[in-house]
Amino acid sequence: MLLTTKQLFEKCYGRYAIAAVNVFFMEEIHGLFAAAQQTGSPFIVQTTPFARDYAAAEMLLAMINAAAKIYPDTVFAIHMDHGYEEHIYDAVAKGGYTSVMIDASHDTFDKNIERTKAIVELAHSRGISVEAELGVLAGVEDDLTVDAAHSFYTNPQEVEDFVAATGCDSLAIAVGTSHGAYKFSGGQGLQLHILNEIQKRLPGFPLVLHGGSNVSSEVVERINAAGGKIKTDARGVQDDEIRKAIPLGVCKINIATDMRLVWTMVNREFFRDKPDEFAPTTPGKTFIETYKNFMISKFELFGSTGKA
Ligand code: 13P
Ligand code: G3H
Ligand code: NA
Ligand code: ZN
Repeated sequence: MLLTTKQLFEKCYGRYAIAAVNVFFMEEIHGLFAAAQQTGSPFIVQTTPFARDYAAAEMLLAMINAAAKIYPDTVFAIHMDHGYEEHIYDAVAKGGYTSVMIDASHDTFDKNIERTKAIVELAHSRGISVEAELGVLAGVEDDLTVDAAHSFYTNPQEVEDFVAATGCDSLAIAVGTSHGAYKFSGGQGLQLHILNEIQKRLPGFPLVLHGGSNVSSEVVERINAAGGKIKTDARGVQDDEIRKAIPLGVCKINIATDMRLVWTMVNREFFRDKPDEFAPTTPGKTFIETYKNFMISKFELFGSTGKA
């Protein structure tokens, strides 16, 4: 069943979080929907502009809609992640999304409000929910790299005015996470006191955590044992940080890097262990199964199992 993110957040606020999973190709979509169906977990399937350029938006949406038929008990929203105006206009014109993110977080506060408000008016007229962002995350997100010096935490003093002025349905915040595999190499971790300040000012309002990957050291070690060179000081968001963030209003947790790492592990091990094989379907099947089990453990951690 296709819902908006607003509908999903009304049910989960303060109790559990919805995994928002970036998809780029068919095997991920199978693994994700299979995990959700098997565990009865609601989820958000999301595409970045980069994914739309890579696979074509029509291809991704057709695969997602096919998956909804193949896995008919699933409950989910289709979200555009990190959209700019051009992508959102295109998505609204062609249809298919129940939720969009307008990422004007790199603009000034006033400009961010102006751009977000315009998208809210357009999207709400079509029944589409809007995620906005305040604060700047470090890291690598598609083709945009933000170094630590240019990132900044969300200012809790600004959140009430921003939400009131824009009418957005959820707010992505910068509270120490970053995009990509090298999140807390400075070791500072999730800034729960800032999150707490934000939640006090926006009680009941859904917050979004970008950069939610865990960057499992077991997966990184297996990749490197199979010829990879992922830096081993990489550290993602820890399970206990996630558990503390959910009661503080985090309703949506974005995951993309962890999928890339699982994909890299499965394929590197395949090429190392089966040098005489050349069928994409062999590592493809292993990936679907491995990714399904990985997502089942995420749903369990986020508390969404059985909530569909
Ligand atoms: P990760 O890099 O932690 O997977 O975050 C992804 C994300 O925030 C997508 O919007
Ligand atoms: O931000 C969304 C893009 O998919 C980038 O994801 O942070 O895992 O590289 P990433
Ligand atoms: Na998003
Ligand atoms: Zn993001």
